[in-house]
Amino acid sequence: MSGEEPGFEGDISMTIRLIGKLAAGAAMIALTAGAAKAAEQVEVLHWWTSGGEAAALNVLKENLAKQGIGWKDMPVAGGAGSAAMTALRARVTAGDPPTAVQLLGFDLRDWSEMGVAANLDDLAAKEGWDKVIPEALQAFSKYDGHWVAAPVNIHSTNWLWLNKAAFDKAGGKQPTNMDELFTMLDAFKAQGITALAHGGVPWQDGTLWEAVVLSVGGPDFYKKAVLDADPTALSGDTMKKVFDDMSKLRTYFDPNFSGREWNLSTALVIEGKAGAQEMGDWSKGEWLRAKKTPGTDFVCMRFPGTQGSVLFNADQFMMFDVGDEQKAAQMKMASAVEDPAFQIAFNTVKGSVPARTDISDEKFDDCAKKGMKDLAEASSKGTLMGSLAHGYAQPAAVKEAMLDVITQHLNGQLTTDAALKRLPEAVAAAK
Ligand code: BGC
Repeated sequence: MSGEEPGFEGDISMTIRLIGKLAAGAAMIALTAGAAKAAEQVEVLHWWTSGGEAAALNVLKENLAKQGIGWKDMPVAGGAGSAAMTALRARVTAGDPPTAVQLLGFDLRDWSEMGVAANLDDLAAKEGWDKVIPEALQAFSKYDGHWVAAPVNIHSTNWLWLNKAAFDKAGGKQPTNMDELFTMLDAFKAQGITALAHGGVPWQDGTLWEAVVLSVGGPDFYKKAVLDADPTALSGDTMKKVFDDMSKLRTYFDPNFSGREWNLSTALVIEGKAGAQEMGDWSKGEWLRAKKTPGTDFVCMRFPGTQGSVLFNADQFMMFDVGDEQKAAQMKMASAVEDPAFQIAFNTVKGSVPARTDISDEKFDDCAKKGMKDLAEASSKGTLMGSLAHGYAQPAAVKEAMLDVITQHLNGQLTTDAALKRLPEAVAAAK
C-alpha cells in the first residue's frame, strides 16, 4: 500500500496539474471569445422603458443584431432622463462609460466638455450628415466643431392628446386658446372622467408649463422668458397669467396625479378614463402600441394657442470614448441610427419624426405628417424653439432651478406672486 501512495499522490498531482492547464486553457478561450464579443457589442444607457419606447428601441436592437452586434442594455427608468444622468455620472466617474448614451441638448455639451466623447467626424463626413441633419440639432450633436452624437429623432412637446369619443361627446371642436381649452376640460368633467391626465413630477410639470408659456405669450415671449431667461419676462404680467392658468389646470387633475409616470397618464386617456393629456409625441408611441389609430381613436393637436410654433427635443446617442476595440461596433451603431430606412422604421413606432430633412412623410401616420409639416414651417419662420423640460432651452442647473419653482407653485407650496419673485431669483442663483 505504502508503495502505492506516492503513485496515487503523483496521479492526483498530475490530475490537478492537468485540470489546472485545462482551466487555464478554457479561461484563455473564454477571454479571447470575450474580447471578440466585446468588440462586437455596444452597451447602451437609455430611459426608454415604457411599452412604446421599448418597442421603438427594439427596432435598433434588431438592426444591430442583423449586423452581428450584441446589445448590452442599461435602462434607467424615468422620463426626460434625470435618473439616467445620475447613473451615467457614476459610470463616467468610475472610468467605465457605456458605449452610447441617450442624451438631450445641453447635457450633450456638458459631457463633451469633460473630454469623454468619441469623435464621429469621419463617419459623418462619409455619410454627409452635415447636409441632412437640421442646424438646430447639429448645434448640440457637435462639440467644438466635432460630431460627438448621432441624432435619432425629433420630438416636440407642445401637443395635446385627446380621447376621440370623449372629444366628440364634448362637441368635437378643437380649442384654439386657453379659454377654449378650459371649456373643453369642463365638458370632460361633466362626462364624469378626469379632464386632464397629468403626472406630478418636475419634468412633466415643466412640459405642461412650457406649453402654457407659449400659448399665453406667443413665440417671442417664449424666447425672452425661457430661452433668454430674461428676469423681466419671468416676473411680469404675462408670466402671472401663465402661473394663474397653471393653477386653474391643476383643478382638472385627478387626485392620484402626484408622482405618476407619463405613460400611466396616457393609459388613462387611451382607456377613456381621462379626456386629455398634454405631452410630447412619445405619448403617441403608447397609443400605437395599444393598437389605436389617430383620427379614429385619438386626436393629436397642437396645445391650444401654439399652432405655428414647435418646442422641440431630439434624442441623440452620444458616443463615449471607450477605446479602439469597441470603436467598430460603436461606429456601426451610429451609422445604423442615421440610416434613412432606420429613421423611418424607428420613428413610426416611437412617435417622433426623423432627425434627417431628406425623408418623405409617406410612411408616417397623420400625426407625424402634421409634426413634419409643423417642424418645417416653424423652422422657416424662426419659431422652432428648444424645450426647457427636455434640456434644449437651458443648461441643467438653470433648467432644474426653473422646474423647482414651477413644481412648487403647481403643488400649492408657492403662491403666484411668490413664484414670480422666486423664478428670476432661482435662475440668477443657478447661472
Ligand atoms: C425623451 C423621449 C422619451 C420621453 C419620456 C424625453 O425626454 O426625449 O424620447 O420618450 O422623455 O421618457
